[in-house]
Amino acid sequence: MYRSSLLLISILFLYNSLSAQSSLRKRLSFNEGWLFNKTTDSAASQIQYKDSDWRKLSLPHDWAIEGPFKPEYNPRTGGLPIFDKAWYRKHFKIDASAKGKIVTLEFDGIMYNSSVYVNGQKVYERPYGYSSFEIDITSYIKYGGENVIAVKVNPQELSARWYTGAGIYRNVWLEVKNAVHVKHWGNHITTPVVAKDKARVKVETTISSKQKNNAGNYQMKTSIIDANGSEVATTMSKFNFTANEAKIIQELEVKNPKLWDLKTPHLYKTISTIYKNNSPVDVYVENFGIRTIKYSREGFFLNGKRVKLQGVCLHNDLGALGAAVNYRGTERQLQIMKEMGVNAIRTSHNPASPEQLDLCDKMGLLVQEEAFDCWEMPKVENDYSKYWAQWHEQDLRDMIRRDRNRPSIIMWSIGNEIREQNKEDGYLIARELAKICKEEDPNRPTTAGFNNFTAAIKNGLAAEIDLVGANYKPADYASTMKEYKDWIVYGSETASCVSSRGVYHLPLEKYDKHPSLQVSSYDNQSPNWAYPPDVEFHFQDSLPNIMGEFVWTGFDYLGEPTPYGGKDNLTHGNWDVDWPSRSSYFGAVDLAGFPKDRFYLYQSRWTTEPMVHLLPHWNWEGSGIKEIPVYCYTNCDEAELFVNGKSYGRKKMGVDKTRIPVSFFAWKNRPKYFDSPYRLNWNVPYEKGEIKVVAYKDGKQAAVKTINTAKNPSQIKLVPDRKVISADGEDLSFITVKIEDENGNFCALADNKVDFKISGPATIAAVDNGNAASTEPFQANYRKVFNGLCLLVIKSKKGTGGEVKIEASSPGLKTSLITVVTK
Ligand code: GAL
Repeated sequence: MYRSSLLLISILFLYNSLSAQSSLRKRLSFNEGWLFNKTTDSAASQIQYKDSDWRKLSLPHDWAIEGPFKPEYNPRTGGLPIFDKAWYRKHFKIDASAKGKIVTLEFDGIMYNSSVYVNGQKVYERPYGYSSFEIDITSYIKYGGENVIAVKVNPQELSARWYTGAGIYRNVWLEVKNAVHVKHWGNHITTPVVAKDKARVKVETTISSKQKNNAGNYQMKTSIIDANGSEVATTMSKFNFTANEAKIIQELEVKNPKLWDLKTPHLYKTISTIYKNNSPVDVYVENFGIRTIKYSREGFFLNGKRVKLQGVCLHNDLGALGAAVNYRGTERQLQIMKEMGVNAIRTSHNPASPEQLDLCDKMGLLVQEEAFDCWEMPKVENDYSKYWAQWHEQDLRDMIRRDRNRPSIIMWSIGNEIREQNKEDGYLIARELAKICKEEDPNRPTTAGFNNFTAAIKNGLAAEIDLVGANYKPADYASTMKEYKDWIVYGSETASCVSSRGVYHLPLEKYDKHPSLQVSSYDNQSPNWAYPPDVEFHFQDSLPNIMGEFVWTGFDYLGEPTPYGGKDNLTHGNWDVDWPSRSSYFGAVDLAGFPKDRFYLYQSRWTTEPMVHLLPHWNWEGSGIKEIPVYCYTNCDEAELFVNGKSYGRKKMGVDKTRIPVSFFAWKNRPKYFDSPYRLNWNVPYEKGEIKVVAYKDGKQAAVKTINTAKNPSQIKLVPDRKVISADGEDLSFITVKIEDENGNFCALADNKVDFKISGPATIAAVDNGNAASTEPFQANYRKVFNGLCLLVIKSKKGTGGEVKIEASSPGLKTSLITVVTK
């Protein structure tokens, strides 16, 4: 049987840390030392199976992102191999002293159709790739001997309408705890009273006694610890087991609580310690926040203050990093969203990774967590409808149990555009799901996103949930709220404007499918069920109390390359994709994380720090275009445009309007054009040189943006988002690669291929450029820039750290060298 030194180290590490542990609970990462093979051989579940030639890797792992791109891999889901059968195996030891304890494995998510075998025996299976689960492997373990875990993964093509990734793509944990312990997701923390001077915190804990001889008297002490590590409340309760489980309810009071809020997301934690005869037998720690949420027809209120939801929908993938969870990759995505002014995330259309939610708790972002994209009725061939009957209840309960203590979560979505909207008895499922939500968490409202709004109302689905989400129906908000006097309606999915970063097609017309496979970034393109952001702003502004919106989408994502793929709006049926289009154009930010123009349109609406943005680029020589439409996005009052110092006049926000085409079908009697008060426009003759916009607030200059005509590409600039990263084998530095002319002007049309050399304790994790129609691999040491930019992502090696030298070169350009330090 195969033994690598790496594997031995990891076995020894586990062995030592387990034997060194006290009698209390130990939680260890179980990500290292795995073996992987795309085999269909079911004998791979067996202990003695020969795995000596298998690939060694660490989790989280998404094999599909390794590519290659192929049109037969279905461009609708990213053109990547997200299907196949594969096995993961890991050899590990658990010290003999752990006998008598409970040993569990916790998988945060396996994509998908997974079966888990321990020492040759099947211990678990789970179809839904987005669900987290714990497996008790106590009785399958050889204590002191060698154990083998084997995980079969069998994702299918078209298991979703988007890129799912494939493999054990989220973290895995091993826990060793005593027979008497707080159950997995076993405490539910609520705050029945929240006032300025005090908060009452209710902690309901389920304690499990896995063995019969654990009768006796126990005590549980629960303390609340604030963000500085000080104990702010404590209580002790007695209990005994009359069955396998005991349930304890404790109430604690926190004086002068620090509320969890968007700007100050204060977190507390509970530490619950179980004692038998004054000796501790288990300890369980859980984060929570103290805050109130309230929904009414006057809006959403956090801690009594109105907060308009400036939300975005996000798919699960992290672009070129694929579906594999990465803490820093997720954090970067959320930081970019916050910079745009986002305060809420909809986890479309599935339960999120624990890391994403940890970050939302920590960063002060509100979350709508969504369970499903379909129920019984399928949208695509191999989707969740296949597993619905057997699994929906458990998948929904598990999502809520895992996440209900998180302050960031403000609503549970039971589904997105489920086809049962159109069924007369569709409300029955909605009713069942809403009931499950309330049983698991009576304190948060339920919601769903309806695209066939009229049918969802007529068939009674909308009446079953607390917050009625309308997808792409802004023109219906007012009339629905008027007709249904107690409903709260909001934009659960909005806009779906499409664009490619840095691409401008002139003359300014609606190009449904421009032959370049790129969509113009004048932010006036959208499929016929959708519309530019301004239209949503208009309807939101005409109903000042509306709760807000969730834009489709914050980031581009893999798969669904609309408009280069057809879509039957109700069934999400057949697609003919124009290869190589393979990822979305919907994001306000491209797949590589570079803001598109739309990012600034939202920023102008959602932020208050004076900003101004100008588009398009200023390199039109040789294009034959004489007059250039120029757009300006600003949150200031007025702006003035200059070309080579000549003023083209001041325009006033809200007064001077910009005409954009509108074609979306759900706006009855819609005008052909919408005169948007949310952007400014000048049409100016093209003249190379400098274009500048100056924005004024209260009559004073508040922000400026200048674009210069660039000469030929001459140099490469490398800009890391972080120069010092942690040497933990996980941390990332995202390095923006920019092409500039000899004077340092950005070359907005450059498409040079850049080669990367890196030395030191890091590897290339991914490369990208945000081009939705590129088949260059995401894992490579080169990338073409797309409209002047590409991205290099480096990942630290685990160890002591050191200097990482990164060199970027391209024929004809000055080479660039930077250093990033891992510590
Ligand atoms: C919606 C759907 C999303 C996405 C979007 C594109 O109908 O809920 O998942 O497909 O359309 O506009």
